[in-house]
Amino acid sequence: MTKFAAFTAAELAPGEMRKLELPDDRALAIYNVDGKFYATDDLCTHGEVSLTDEGILTGKIIECSWHFGSFDVTTGEVLTTPCNRDLRIYPVQVIEGVLYVDA
Ligand code: FES
Repeated sequence: MTKFAAFTAAELAPGEMRKLELPDDRALAIYNVDGKFYATDDLCTHGEVSLTDEGILTGKIIECSWHFGSFDVTTGEVLTTPCNRDLRIYPVQVIEGVLYVDA
């Protein structure tokens, strides 16, 4: 895994999420859940839909607005069908106010 600098922690307020485009064309979703940071793949596992563009984050739950599947962003676990595959998750560290993701 490679460590990528995402944004500063100050740029992502609690309840917010942002997309992080990686140099190898993957995209991750970075979330602030009550002051803790989490990262998952950005694409819904049911379809090729960006969760940061089309999802709704409520607490630690991201709901895909296309077919209303949902995931726990802290674990990647599927919570609601039609999704049946968990989201991949990635460790996030905050170092001197900057978010780093191992992906
Ligand atoms: S594409 Fe996300 S629930 Fe169907």
